[in-house]
Amino acid sequence: MRTHFCGLVTEALIGQSVTLCGWADVARNLGGVCFIDLRDHEGIVQIVAEPDAGEVFNVAAQVGYEYCLRVTGTVRARHAVNDKIKTGKIEVVASQIEILNKADTLPFYLHETPGEETRLTYRYIDLRRPEMQRMQRTRIKLVQELRRYLDARGFQDIETPILTKATPEGARDFLVPARMHAGEFYALPQSPQLFKQILMIAGFDRYYQIARCFRDEALRADRQLEFTQLDMEFAWVDEAIVQDFVEGMIRHVFKEVVNVALDEPFPRMTWHEAMRRFGSDKPDLRIALELVDVAELVKNCEFKVFTDAANDAGGRVAALRIPGGASLSRKQIDEYAAHAAKFGAKGLAYAKIDESGAVNSPVSKFFAEDAFAALLKHVGAEKNDIVFFGAGAYNKVSDFMGAVRLKAGKDFNLVAEGWRPLWVTDFPMFEWDDEENRYVALHHPFTAPKVDDIANLRENARTAVSRGYDMVLNGNEIGGGSIRIHRSDMQSAVFELLGIGEEEARAKFGFLLDALRFGAPPHGGIAFGIDRIAALMAGTDSIRDVIPFPKTTTAQCLMTGAPSPIPDAQLAEVHVKVREQAQ
Ligand code: AMO
Ligand code: AMP
Repeated sequence: MRTHFCGLVTEALIGQSVTLCGWADVARNLGGVCFIDLRDHEGIVQIVAEPDAGEVFNVAAQVGYEYCLRVTGTVRARHAVNDKIKTGKIEVVASQIEILNKADTLPFYLHETPGEETRLTYRYIDLRRPEMQRMQRTRIKLVQELRRYLDARGFQDIETPILTKATPEGARDFLVPARMHAGEFYALPQSPQLFKQILMIAGFDRYYQIARCFRDEALRADRQLEFTQLDMEFAWVDEAIVQDFVEGMIRHVFKEVVNVALDEPFPRMTWHEAMRRFGSDKPDLRIALELVDVAELVKNCEFKVFTDAANDAGGRVAALRIPGGASLSRKQIDEYAAHAAKFGAKGLAYAKIDESGAVNSPVSKFFAEDAFAALLKHVGAEKNDIVFFGAGAYNKVSDFMGAVRLKAGKDFNLVAEGWRPLWVTDFPMFEWDDEENRYVALHHPFTAPKVDDIANLRENARTAVSRGYDMVLNGNEIGGGSIRIHRSDMQSAVFELLGIGEEEARAKFGFLLDALRFGAPPHGGIAFGIDRIAALMAGTDSIRDVIPFPKTTTAQCLMTGAPSPIPDAQLAEVHVKVREQAQ
């Protein structure tokens, strides 16, 4: 049908005949000459139909926006060179134009960026936009480079089931009714976690998979119901081997895909240090602001909120100094408090220091004058600064002050250019869940504790540290993994600490507990969020831009209309009856 791609017609072809296929990007009639920008996946080329060309000119004059054309013509040098496109030095003088298909008036022009609802409803048109083509290609190149790197190093690409038993990663499961087993269900995997561990026990040594994962959780810019992991597992390893290997791999793909040289080696930071300094387990190191602990300096003041937290072992009083922040108006300060409230803050105290050095603060009255001055001095506050204070439970204060830090970083243009990767290590093994009144695993229940001794783990569960690690880049968790439990007795003990009784553990994970008893080698691994890495590489805030057909934040596919009701007869086949919706 064609001899060349539109975007690849070069000066080397001048004088030759070419046949091209593509969409008419813009058709315009100037001074009796018809110009068409013909576009395919490689780019745009200018087609010229001259009035003396007879029928060709008449056809060209009928061409509408996004019509599909097949054009034959001769390549010639262009008078007015267009530096903005690859083919800007040439044009194609048409001898034949065939309209392969017409297009109705489009819902939007390709050079526009309409609302996301329109874009997702007409995703095929949205994806035609060069910007979207570029972002998809970044993702494709990323996956190609990952495969190339791993294939060359003896990793084996092995598929694991999609219809399976629940694999917990902390979200709700998607369930699929089993037609052949009335009342029973498959679960879609939240990750291939258990299968990859079993593959190590089965002797495959090095595994990877570009794996689709399914998690029924609240959607955000960096979260989808189904998303893609580069999932990996290694046998006979400790954390240093896994970390060094995947660091090399990430460095390779950044170099190859976006020509970025990442620091070597990535810095490592414990979870405690990350929370203390940045109020986050995925600190954005591009922002230089840090939290400062001030419990010691406020524990004798008259403000109960501060003294309660300062005198409680599980409490925290933290300050964040924002240089130049005294410019914030009352309303803007309220916006900061509202932002902190989203992360659980009950209030956000502050102290503004104006250019004369005068202090304005709703909490200074609770302090002796010199004590408040000492507090401000301790956090390094200067004229024109604002200092925010957070008090309460340790993790909550860290969370909301971490959120305030990120907002200030953006608002005050304090996010430095560049790429700041790091490893976060030494996560707590367990987190106490107030609602469920039990421990939950901070990584997943198969992560090994640092201590190898079951009695010790039981005794010190609250402070136990795991062998988990996350890779963080510019404030995004791009990968997470761990060294796994490879002994059946330790796995049973961890289930028990998580409130999973023996019977439940048997029913849910009996196959794993069995497999661990038949010579399971020490093993560990990691999974990377392909969508998140692709979004970072493509320079977009939302992973929806690098997923060809994403769901909305209300978990729908606007193009196909999924999810949708199913006729009763079809439901009956799979033994399902829909309950009346509670109003
Ligand atoms: P984890 O749950 O940390 O680990 O997931 C690994 C990485 O996957 C990405 N990710 C997501 N991306 C888009 N949408 C989501 N809803 C979503 N959830 C997670 C993140 C994250 O770092 N089995 C373990 C890995 C292991 O231990 O080896 C796991 O799934 O980038
Ligand atoms: P109040 O006396 O409740 O009006 O609080 C005085 C100041 O302390 C206000 O600026 C509140 O926003 C702030 N505040 C209240 N609770 C907290 C908290 N837990 N951490 C930090 N500041 C708080």
